[in-house]
Amino acid sequence: MSNVVVVGTQWGDEGKGKITDYLAQEAEVVVRYQGGNNAGHTIVFNGETYALHLLPSGVLSKNKVNIMANGMVINLKALVEEIEGLKSRGIDNINLKISNRAHIILPFHIELDGAYEDLAGKKKIGTTKKGIGPTYTDKHFRCGIRMGDLLDLDYLKERIENIVRIKKISEKVEISAQKIYNEVVQFSDIVKNMICDTSLLLNEALENGKKVLFEGAQGIMLCIDHGTYPFVTSSSPTAAAVPLYTGVAPAYINNVLGITKAYTTRVGEGAFPTEFEDETAKTIREVGHEYGTTTKRPRRIGWLDTVVLKYSKRVSGINGLSIMLLDVLTGIKTLKICTAYKLDGEIINTLPSIVDHLELVEPIYEELPGWDEDITNVKNFDQLPQNAQDYLKKIEELTKIKIKIFSVGPDREQTVVMEKIL
Ligand code: IMP
Repeated sequence: MSNVVVVGTQWGDEGKGKITDYLAQEAEVVVRYQGGNNAGHTIVFNGETYALHLLPSGVLSKNKVNIMANGMVINLKALVEEIEGLKSRGIDNINLKISNRAHIILPFHIELDGAYEDLAGKKKIGTTKKGIGPTYTDKHFRCGIRMGDLLDLDYLKERIENIVRIKKISEKVEISAQKIYNEVVQFSDIVKNMICDTSLLLNEALENGKKVLFEGAQGIMLCIDHGTYPFVTSSSPTAAAVPLYTGVAPAYINNVLGITKAYTTRVGEGAFPTEFEDETAKTIREVGHEYGTTTKRPRRIGWLDTVVLKYSKRVSGINGLSIMLLDVLTGIKTLKICTAYKLDGEIINTLPSIVDHLELVEPIYEELPGWDEDITNVKNFDQLPQNAQDYLKKIEELTKIKIKIFSVGPDREQTVVMEKIL
């Protein structure tokens, strides 16, 4: 396979950063295709921990082309800080290309994100308050500012004046065209040489048989179309979004790796059928360091939900799974896997479209015995204790998706690859 799409199959934070970083060693081109610095991809490498919010995970491997594609929304200040942060840790020759069609998050987008959440009170979405929703809104309202606009400052000024005229209708935010222009232009010298038509570049790479890794952020349950709407992000993390968000033909997208935690987590509000809160959940939260990379919020904890996985498989064409954080389950006496839901006395195998109905479903569980053995040094499937093997086999049986990778710890070395991905 010359390319792979890495998608989160749950509500984000599945460990995509680790797997993308792992696969990035093989890839020649690494592409982030949606979202912005709402994401937080944690990568542990040579004993050092890196948290990437905007940059593609390929930046930590040598000699990769890293692309931020048109589907992304970019906070320039955060981008420059991330680049500088890596530089200060000795990673300074990043080959980064930024789509001229990617949108820029402006300071008032961030303000608006917070203001909308405050306004919503109890009905808030629990966003990361990074301005993601308002930026995508303006993209679709056709008044957004794009990276390529930085290459023509007169045009940029015109576009900013246009968006300010539109936004003046809102009294909630203080807004000045000159201020926005200054804010945006101050980063121009640093990023302008990186801005180009990344679709052209990507198509050339694919035509030349280069290995390309498409890196999704968030998870399918947070997809604007297929997720638990309205408690979702404002873009689509599915593999189906890759052609649109990167400018490549859909025919290229046939190798999709679904990244899945051995259990489930969610940050922010919204229905979460398999959520539970007891001593076991607390243990999982502490052992798995289940606190948001971006917002530091404690993550909600739930059992593995195969209704979610089957749904993600259906809407995103997943043909392989990477099971993450398997080691976190060590020591739990009885493990539960959700196989279906009950709603109004009926068994259902999919997610209702109305989130209030999803709140009402009752998960149906199959219980499996856990294991006590330390699995953090396991190098292949056969070295896993029988109960851990059975747990993985049960996931395959229920989802009918092959497990190609499993992870037993945060380090690159603690990754067991059962089938070559790229
Ligand atoms: P937004 O993307 O900041 O608008 O937030 C919308 C929802 O998506 C909230 O519930 C966030 O907590 C969630 N979310 C956004 N990005 C991530 C992520 O990278 N991991 C997990 N949840 C996320």
